[in-house]
Amino acid sequence: MPAMRRTCSTCHNGVEQDGESAGKTDFQEMFPGAAGKTEVESGHVAKKKALIAGATGVVGRNLLKHLVEIGGWDIVALSRRRPDVTGPYEHIAVDLMDPANCKAQLGALSDVTHIFFAAYVEKPDLTDWVNSNVTMLRNLVETIEPVAGGLQHIHAMHGTKWYGSHLGPFKTPARENDTRHMPPNFYYDQWDYLVEQQKGKDWTCSSARPHAISGFAVGNPMNLTMVISVYAAISKELGMPLCHPGTAGNYSALYQCTDSGLLARAMVWMATTPACANEAFNITNGDLIRWENTWPKIADYFGMEAGPRRQINLAKYMADKGPVWERIVAKHGLQPIPYQQIVSWPYGDHVFTPGYDIISDTGKARRFGFHESIDTEDMFFRLWDQFREAKIIPA
Ligand SMILES: NC(=O)c1ccc[n+]([C@@H]2O[C@H](COP(=O)([O-])OP(=O)(O)OC[C@H]3O[C@@H](n4cnc5c(N)ncnc54)[C@H](OP(=O)(O)O)[C@@H]3O)[C@@H](O)[C@H]2O)c1
Repeated sequence: MPAMRRTCSTCHNGVEQDGESAGKTDFQEMFPGAAGKTEVESGHVAKKKALIAGATGVVGRNLLKHLVEIGGWDIVALSRRRPDVTGPYEHIAVDLMDPANCKAQLGALSDVTHIFFAAYVEKPDLTDWVNSNVTMLRNLVETIEPVAGGLQHIHAMHGTKWYGSHLGPFKTPARENDTRHMPPNFYYDQWDYLVEQQKGKDWTCSSARPHAISGFAVGNPMNLTMVISVYAAISKELGMPLCHPGTAGNYSALYQCTDSGLLARAMVWMATTPACANEAFNITNGDLIRWENTWPKIADYFGMEAGPRRQINLAKYMADKGPVWERIVAKHGLQPIPYQQIVSWPYGDHVFTPGYDIISDTGKARRFGFHESIDTEDMFFRLWDQFREAKIIPA
């Protein structure tokens, strides 16, 4: 059966465009009724079934939590490990790198309507990095698409690396249609694959481009809130003040973050709002920070003095601090999450080394109808309150 949004006469009438003529794309010229209201606003709510790939990651876990909380979705969570989220959903352990395993485990999921792709694997070699991340997406799409006749949407999680934020100073504020950097970049390959695969089909795709996603997930290598809070706990245990561990340029540059809950809500918005069909959106909290302003408040939150900025390579200098962390865990009765899984220091170096502004323009998402914003400092403190309550970090 074709996707409802393509066949419903209600959707093809009286579409309100919210004054966003600039947001009208080639795709929407072809399908004028696809722009405008959400399914809920347009008066018909079809039964939706979400397939979340990467359900134990910081993106997928928090999307899973969000969908469980809002209800109205059948949910299948995919990952090799079991997610720690409670609620009504099915978890299927699958290796997305293995096409035969995908077919065996997922080939019967004929009622999936929405795929949220947030699986990710880090690889040191660039070619391997691209191939592995594209292979996982292809294996999933090429398993589900032939059997799921009601497939409506595939959302792929990307990020500011689209603009080359990891390579050096880049044009800021970065806009969604900025020119690409010299590949390889697996985001480009995943997006080009989806756009090509989508041609002539009833389903649409979208992509979010967040930065420094903040939330909780065990074993998540890219998690700024864990880097800062574990670094603070270890500094405190060693009787030290909280020194910003990055470069001078990093301390004063403008920086942005994305709350994982806000991101989950944005993903659902993109996947269910016809105007977002085949579009990518920068998704951040909507404000900017400079560590030089925020750092003293962070020190204060952890009951510490803010020390002088002192650059260290976190990957090297924190590598031997496992025993200190174990002492902290025992002293404060924390969850026994292994040191190697609770934090990734190379990710900390990735955050605290660049001495240039990291800014995305989030105007497009607002013009298309996503208006949420979050105060980044409040977000840090709220998340750390939650981590403290869950006995992940010391109170
Ligand atoms: N974290 C950030 O700050 C950030 C910022 C901007 C953009 N992004 C983008 O967001 C996306 C998701 O990143 P993330 O930080 O959420 O990643 P993550 O926390 O490392 O999670 C990766 C997920 O992929 C799953 N996975 C990996 N290999 C798999 C395999 N072979 N089969 C099945 N599942 C597999 C993992 O589950 P199992 O290990 O349990 O199988 C896990 O659930 C990435 O594209 C990333 O570039 C992240």
